[in-house]
Amino acid sequence: MQTRLTEMLGIQHPIIQGGMQWVGLAELASAVSNAGGLGIITGLTQPTPEDLFKEIARCREMTDKPFGVNLTILPTIKPVPYEEYALAIIDSGIKIVETAGRNPEPFLPGFKAAGITVIHKCTSIRHSLKAEKIGCDMVSVDGFECAGHPGEDDVTNLILLPLAAKRLKIPFIASGGLGDGRGLAAALAMGAEGINMGTRFMVTKEAPIHAKVKQAMVDASELDTSLIYRSLSNTARVFKNSVAQKVVEIESKPGATKFEDIQSLVAGVKGRELFDGGDLDNGIWSAGMIVGLIDDIPSCEELVHRIVADAEQIIGERLRQILPV
Ligand SMILES: Cc1cc2nc3c(=O)[nH]c(=O)nc-3n(C[C@H](O)[C@H](O)[C@H](O)COP(=O)(O)O)c2cc1C
Repeated sequence: MQTRLTEMLGIQHPIIQGGMQWVGLAELASAVSNAGGLGIITGLTQPTPEDLFKEIARCREMTDKPFGVNLTILPTIKPVPYEEYALAIIDSGIKIVETAGRNPEPFLPGFKAAGITVIHKCTSIRHSLKAEKIGCDMVSVDGFECAGHPGEDDVTNLILLPLAAKRLKIPFIASGGLGDGRGLAAALAMGAEGINMGTRFMVTKEAPIHAKVKQAMVDASELDTSLIYRSLSNTARVFKNSVAQKVVEIESKPGATKFEDIQSLVAGVKGRELFDGGDLDNGIWSAGMIVGLIDDIPSCEELVHRIVADAEQIIGERLRQILPV
């Protein structure tokens, strides 16, 4: 399969592994890139910009294929030296960056001067148009199905992707709710140049998280995600466990929820411990509705090849047969 995505990034298959806090380490990113997709290291998972620089070097030892870095610019309790992370990315010679969370405009001059291709992840068409206007090279259009922050508009990819095809001039990638060949074929049909997956790549052999977390996601149905932080207008889609349900319960109480009311339940460090130790009710973790379609734990190589082969079969055979000769 050749699309503008494969051409612009110099990759074999139109599949990207989106940035994932605590999950996007060199092990996973290199496995996705070695499988012919684009692996992405999550910048802020590294405690300091120097550690990010080292993690990029570690990934280079594991793959000679292109890989990228995610820079998530979200409000945080502890201030993050974003400029220094951006400099570490530039100094390390990385050529592909996924930005997310907020308008990446302040970082674009530095990235552009370094010849970096910038993919901005957006959850709406207005933000996608803004990303195009300020000079991003591509956007990842993240529908309501997605893990993490779907925004507050609640529009799914069946609407967002055709809208993106109508309105954007720059190439776009479908993100959220994708995990198999049907999804890839559908995304291409709706005008996307490829797909970006988070949740599906969490449930692979190489994802650096506890086997119990992966198994819980295999066992889960499409109903097993919760939307938290709705009352704070900072919605996040997470796996439905007892902690997520408790947060939803607190938020549904009359009166405004303050972040302090839920802070101890959702602390990032608890999510990290959960990934390391496999205690599924220790904290929260991001997961998308695609968990309902995940029923195995393949290697990244097996997964990427299966998705591409299935999509090729659908496009080349099933869809072709629908058209009379
Ligand atoms: C565990 C996990 C952590 C994530 N952390 C981040 C993050 O730090 N920054 C970011 O831009 N996106 C993050 N995401 C979102 C993914 O990059 C991607 O946009 C999303 O997972 C796509 O939806 P899907 O899960 O349905 O494939 C995370 C997703 C997961 C599953």
